[in-house]
Amino acid sequence: MSAIPDPTTVLSIDDLKGWGHPGTFLAVLGWPISHSISPWMHQAALAVMARENPMFSDWVYVRVEVRPEELACALDRLGEAGFRGINLTVPHKVEVLPFLVGQDEESRAMGAANTLRLTENGYYGHNSDGYGLARAVEESFGFGLKGLRVLLLGAGGAARAAAVQMARSGVEGLWIHNRTQSKAEALVAQLIDSGCPSSLMKVGMPDLKETDGVDLVINATSLGLRPEDPTPVGLALVPGKPACYDMIYNPARTRFLGEAAGLGLPAANGLSMLVHQGVRSLEIWSGASVPESAMAEGARTGLEKILSETLPSGQ
Ligand code: ATR
Repeated sequence: MSAIPDPTTVLSIDDLKGWGHPGTFLAVLGWPISHSISPWMHQAALAVMARENPMFSDWVYVRVEVRPEELACALDRLGEAGFRGINLTVPHKVEVLPFLVGQDEESRAMGAANTLRLTENGYYGHNSDGYGLARAVEESFGFGLKGLRVLLLGAGGAARAAAVQMARSGVEGLWIHNRTQSKAEALVAQLIDSGCPSSLMKVGMPDLKETDGVDLVINATSLGLRPEDPTPVGLALVPGKPACYDMIYNPARTRFLGEAAGLGLPAANGLSMLVHQGVRSLEIWSGASVPESAMAEGARTGLEKILSETLPSGQ
């Protein structure tokens, strides 16, 4: 019988052909995928879960590099091989939708799926990103989203999931600020179409006439991924003393978070969101309770490993 693959190796769709490995398999698909720390997070949580229930001792989570044009083939092969659960990252969260047998209400409203569950007929879509964000805010700042005045930066896929979660969690006001205003307007229209109350959302920057102050600013743009990136907003322009959450976790301290810290504002990066979306995904696949602290510890280990591999040579 063939050996269980090492969860830290990166597989290709060719490796899925004639999959005969014993065990229960989970995978994350993306392109590129070698930066993903999900195997460390899930294996750490599964190791703790296996102590309670030996059923989890043969669960293995792997990364599969899947190019956009390979997605349909990858899903067929994963389904045939019986992969129980799949996470999707860039660029597959939206493109996967036509291949699903169904979607829950959350992922439908978000227009994207990051978690697939194998059913008798094929893969069913969920989205754990919004849950991850809500839990991350709670954990980082000690308050829930309900009743907050939120400034959301960005109007792409990440911003859409965040906005849907804000509406579902009962925020009091949501301002969507984006470099390209027409995209922010299009996002608001999409959100209204999917059932979010129109009274809640405004495009642009809040000013003091509209509100006493913003409670939370979320960076859902891709600005900050490169160390030389500027901040997506001058925080001094934002009324109030908001807590600042950056969905980016690598680098750990973006210019946005640096500026927040300089102004004495509470600030946190996106690692906690990644951890909590992972917790929710594994809950969906396992039906069991998932230890958050083990998942978080696994994330830290994985990140150290990935960073040590990407350091310039000689360091
Ligand atoms: P994702 O799915 O990760 O959200 P995306 O859909 O490409 O990725 O969205 C990227 C977001 O980052 C957008 O809001 C984009 O702004 P535009 O709609 O104006 O393009 C924002 N963004 C990317 N580069 C930016 C930059 N240099 N300055 C300001 N905003 C930027």
